[in-house]
Amino acid sequence: MLLGYLLGAIPFGLLLARWFGAGDLRAIGSGNIGATNVLRTGRKGLAAATLLLDAAKGTLAVVLAEWLFPGHGPFAAAAAFLGHCYPVWLGFRGGKGVATMLGVVLALHWPSALVFAVVWLGLLALLRISSVAGMTACISAPVSAAWFGQFDLVLLLLGMAAVALWKHRENLGRLLDGTEPRVGSRKGG
Ligand code: G3P
Repeated sequence: MLLGYLLGAIPFGLLLARWFGAGDLRAIGSGNIGATNVLRTGRKGLAAATLLLDAAKGTLAVVLAEWLFPGHGPFAAAAAFLGHCYPVWLGFRGGKGVATMLGVVLALHWPSALVFAVVWLGLLALLRISSVAGMTACISAPVSAAWFGQFDLVLLLLGMAAVALWKHRENLGRLLDGTEPRVGSRKGG
């Protein structure tokens, strides 16, 4: 779990933006350290790298845990997800968990990850509201795990989806106000 937490707590978005001169993500857009906010800096490559690395650290945590301690992947998954959302080095103010959840689901049960990715990308293409696409994809994970008969994963994925929704509470407020920006809009979505 410690290994998972430490991997999950690497804030790739923040680091890449800083290293490649895109500024301090916490002072830009939503202030989030995820790929969507990196995109708001106008650096598409950095945003794609953030998405990939935030997902990969989740996948790696589970794969490593299963290799070192067979059967303990789900614990590493929870720890990596929480590490991303609540990293100790950022005063526990981390990301919203969507990419890292995709990464851990990929390692735990790839068909559910496929559904996650389709829901996420499909809604993003349709609505261009990153938070709605991300939250819906997170909710899809426990639903697809149950659908595929992976009942031992349902509680874990429900917990992650609940944390992801909690982390999106400011987005939910903006959605209710009608002020949540769209990806690619001039308002900086
Ligand atoms: O994955 C994060 C996304 O769902 C929302 O990001 O920056 O629009 O709050 P942001």
